Amino acid sequence: MEVMQVLHMNKGEGETSYAKNSTAQREIISIANSIVEEAVVGILCTNFPESLGVADLGCSSGPNTFIISSEIIDIVHATSCRLGRPIPELRVSLNDLPGNDFNCIFKALPEFYKKLKEEKGGGFDRCFVSGVPGSFYGRLFPSKSLHFVHSSSSLHWLSQVPKGLDSNEGIPLNKGKLYLSETSPVRVVEAYLSQFYKDFSLFLKSRAEEMVPGGRMVLSFMAPPPPPPPPPPQLRHRPTTITATTMTTTTTPPSSSPPPCRRRHHHHN
Ligand SMILES: C[S@@+](CC[C@H](N)C(=O)[O-])C[C@H]1O[C@@H](n2cnc3c(N)ncnc32)[C@H](O)[C@@H]1O
Repeated sequence: MEVMQVLHMNKGEGETSYAKNSTAQREIISIANSIVEEAVVGILCTNFPESLGVADLGCSSGPNTFIISSEIIDIVHATSCRLGRPIPELRVSLNDLPGNDFNCIFKALPEFYKKLKEEKGGGFDRCFVSGVPGSFYGRLFPSKSLHFVHSSSSLHWLSQVPKGLDSNEGIPLNKGKLYLSETSPVRVVEAYLSQFYKDFSLFLKSRAEEMVPGGRMVLSFMAPPPPPPPPPPQLRHRPTTITATTMTTTTTPPSSSPPPCRRRHHHHN
């Protein structure tokens, strides 16, 4: 059976559920807050769309699922007010693998909409949240339908077990582990790297089709810090840091003048 069909975070809200065990990932989301804000404000200030397409890839199910959507909605609300523009229609797509607990997300939606209207008023009755089951290592959305793509703590999941983890004699090289560690031999590191390269290229190719020109993407994940010069003889495990990358789709030349508005101050708990 395909890895993609069986993988999912622990469902529900029990002690071992992802919902109860995702504080580290929540921290990563909050560290990337200001980068998300800069990206969304940049989109609105460059070419204010009537309908804004947003996707969170690898949304999982639990408290983190709605954090990023709420944050984006806050930014859209504040920026629209500042620019004196009506709030754009919002199409928010929550994506994960088909085994994800989408039921849990859908059940939480009425409360999400209710809170939105109470906190932000009538302008947000044109916010449409949908679930999109499928792998982000392939097409998920219609062409040029997305303005902003977000993904946090998800892109380190590979699409399949890398090839080449066994010796020529069929002996496992990674000592029975299913991740990279300090003791993983170089061949294993290379096998993971090669699979990541293939997967990430496909990810970028797919998003390039789905995003509008000038759309932006924020991807954050745990990563080792850049190697200090001179580079070490072999890849070692160093203390983990958080990396957030922002990318802009530029199939048309970007405007030469800077966006007309400043970044808003952001408050979070
Ligand atoms: C550690 S969770 C992160 C969830 C959430 N973004 C957060 O920050 O708490 C990783 C999520 O990525 C999803 N995922 C892994 N590979 C995926 C793929 N190829 N396509 C879509 N989602 C994927 C997993 O199912 C899982 O829900």
